Amino acid sequence: MKSFGIRVPASSANIGPGFDSMGLALNLYLTLKVSPSDKWEITQHSPNLPEQTDYDNHYIIQVARSVAANWNQELPACSITIESEIPLARGLGSSASAIVAGIELADQACNLNLTQEQKLEIGTEIEGHPDNVAPALVGGFIISTVVNDDVDWASLQDPDLEVILYIPGSDLKTEEARSVLPENYTREHAASASAISNVLIASLAAGDYSLAGKMMEQDVFHEPYRASMIPNYHDIRREAKQQGAYGTVISGAGPTMMSFVPKDKGQMIVAHFQEFLPDYQVVLLQADHTGSSIISNF
Ligand code: HSE
Repeated sequence: MKSFGIRVPASSANIGPGFDSMGLALNLYLTLKVSPSDKWEITQHSPNLPEQTDYDNHYIIQVARSVAANWNQELPACSITIESEIPLARGLGSSASAIVAGIELADQACNLNLTQEQKLEIGTEIEGHPDNVAPALVGGFIISTVVNDDVDWASLQDPDLEVILYIPGSDLKTEEARSVLPENYTREHAASASAISNVLIASLAAGDYSLAGKMMEQDVFHEPYRASMIPNYHDIRREAKQQGAYGTVISGAGPTMMSFVPKDKGQMIVAHFQEFLPDYQVVLLQADHTGSSIISNF
């Protein structure tokens, strides 16, 4: 085995009404540098990573080992340095990025030659839904679903806009944010939720970002149930709209919020929010178009 690197982007899932289905890869990265070694060694360089450096309990290694075991292989000992720009448990797909990194690690270290479809199916099975795993793997704006155990996906041409994240200091566990959602929806509710999502996709594809922003803010699958768990939910939506954002939603299961904004307004809106929400990290990002990648020379 030669040394190699793995780079996996963050992602923002749901985009409002695309619950468990839509996600956009973003230019914040989880990076692993992997070298062959006669014993396991993990070095972490980021406050965004859990303190766990015991390889037996490290999530990325656990994923890689179980993928290798499913192909009747054993993951060889490695020396791995991990860095992450993706805040943990903030709704930016950190666990999906870790899962994708684990799959890539097993694929490279054990020469599994997994296809992208296999990686997506393994990742989706581990995560439970494909909305973060798919963009983390493929890059760009991905709309995905699981039908009869197949993960089907399509990519939407990148919207021509900028993305602002409002990242609070506190975290929110996805299980907790999922526990407040209803078990069932009435037919009327489901039809309306699906129609709003359909119009969102059509308006993004048509480049009608004002209509897309309106639809982003009309979700009835999850946002109304989660709003009270998200700090400053209403204030951020109102203030962003006043500053010219198209639409503002909960990023994934939160607590980060995310706006789509016109290309010439991003810097100005970020500067405004840095004063309005001094305790937040407010950042201007771009879509990632590469998805996860293997770096042979690092
Ligand atoms: N679609 C997921 C949710 C994203 O909203 O719960 C977080 O895993």
